[in-house]
Amino acid sequence: MKTETLSGKGNITPAIIKKVADRFGTPVYLYEANLISEKCDDVLSMPNKYGLRVRYAMKANSSRAILQYITGKGLHLDLSSLNEGRRAHLAGVPYNKMMLTTQEIPIEKNRSDLEHMIQKGMKYNVCSLRQLELIADFASENNILLSMRIHPGEGSGESSTRNTGDKYSCFGVHLTDIDNTLSYAKSKRLIFDQVHVHIGSGGDPEKWRENIDRELGFVEKYFPDAKTVNFGGGLKEARMPKETPADIQDLGLYAKKRIEEFYHKTGRKLLMEIEPGTYIMATSGNLITEVIDKKQTGPDGFEFLVLSGGMEVNSRPLNYGSEHPFYLVSRDGKLLSSEFNLKHLDKENDQKIPVGRCCESGDSQSLDEHSQIIPRVMANPNFGDYFVIGGCGAYCSSMSPFNYNSHVQAPEVLLINSELICIREQQTLEQMTANEQPLPQKFTS
Ligand SMILES: Cc1ncc(COP(=O)(O)O)c(C=O)c1O
Repeated sequence: MKTETLSGKGNITPAIIKKVADRFGTPVYLYEANLISEKCDDVLSMPNKYGLRVRYAMKANSSRAILQYITGKGLHLDLSSLNEGRRAHLAGVPYNKMMLTTQEIPIEKNRSDLEHMIQKGMKYNVCSLRQLELIADFASENNILLSMRIHPGEGSGESSTRNTGDKYSCFGVHLTDIDNTLSYAKSKRLIFDQVHVHIGSGGDPEKWRENIDRELGFVEKYFPDAKTVNFGGGLKEARMPKETPADIQDLGLYAKKRIEEFYHKTGRKLLMEIEPGTYIMATSGNLITEVIDKKQTGPDGFEFLVLSGGMEVNSRPLNYGSEHPFYLVSRDGKLLSSEFNLKHLDKENDQKIPVGRCCESGDSQSLDEHSQIIPRVMANPNFGDYFVIGGCGAYCSSMSPFNYNSHVQAPEVLLINSELICIREQQTLEQMTANEQPLPQKFTS
């Protein structure tokens, strides 16, 4: 019989949690290669009509081994900064497997590096007229084909700050600026062979589907030379039991049908691109912490569990009010409670609030979108028991303010073929302070 896993999926058992915590300490991130692999296979099997390219949005988790594993599965990369390009290149990924979509402006060294990367095959997804003006002469002289990110005026995200398509965000060339931008491009004899829209992260799959229609409309109306249409990332993943993930097959079938219709209407065959980050990594990662203290705030208050890691290792609850599943594992490696099976617990009396160690009242793993603390049902742990936060593979290690309160960056471990591999060592205090300079003596009293 298969030993019980935390979420009922994958291979992370309570015994593995104990083993990782004993070996690497807490907090520590634990990723599962076989789940990442399944997700890669899943997106690569998305139905399509004239070909599919999947770019992993590396901002979700940019650790070297993760990039190597995912590109080894055949995915290309979506970059959001030049440094991501430099970093991926250091990981051994060739530039011709990258596309850059950034708010950065390429000047000085960034400009020459960008040109070098483009020469080596990186796709540049122009996001503003200014970006286009800065690259125009180079692109024109070297016959570089460009991509354009369009701001569609409408988007969808898990929270308002994750919606990248409405008027409250400024990613891409706004619909009302396309004519202007294209007439400048024409004056420079520039060609766009790709069109891109990313409407947001974790939003409604129905909105993702609607974007397919809208974007194909842009391709038809404005981009006669486009051969590739990129529908962005934002494929919804289900971290919590109550959530439903995007149906990749269903969305693919829809895109396929619409791309086929587009061909019948225009005679143009479009390659499809998508660039998921969350969908590939989110549920493949857990964050292991320990219960280091317990407190309460009186008869009208709450019971708190103080954990060995909080907002500095997973800032998503504080940033977005995001929910993550919780698991409690005893010090000797037994499952005490799992978000996926809370039946044995008392909904009234088994409520607790997990908080971190930071001197910050919002340092909790259970907050709503207004940063209000929300008690959650879970077992009653002892000091030293493990508190595991699921859904921490994406936008946790890569996005967290890890040196806040002078905590050190947590290690990352990958479970691969039953082996536990350390893919990031824990940061040392010396590394954390390495670039700091002392106050010159003349200013000290
Ligand atoms: C341009 C672009 N592509 C892809 C993604 C990945 O989104 P997700 O992680 O929701 O799939 C993002 C995320 O913000 C993005 O900005």
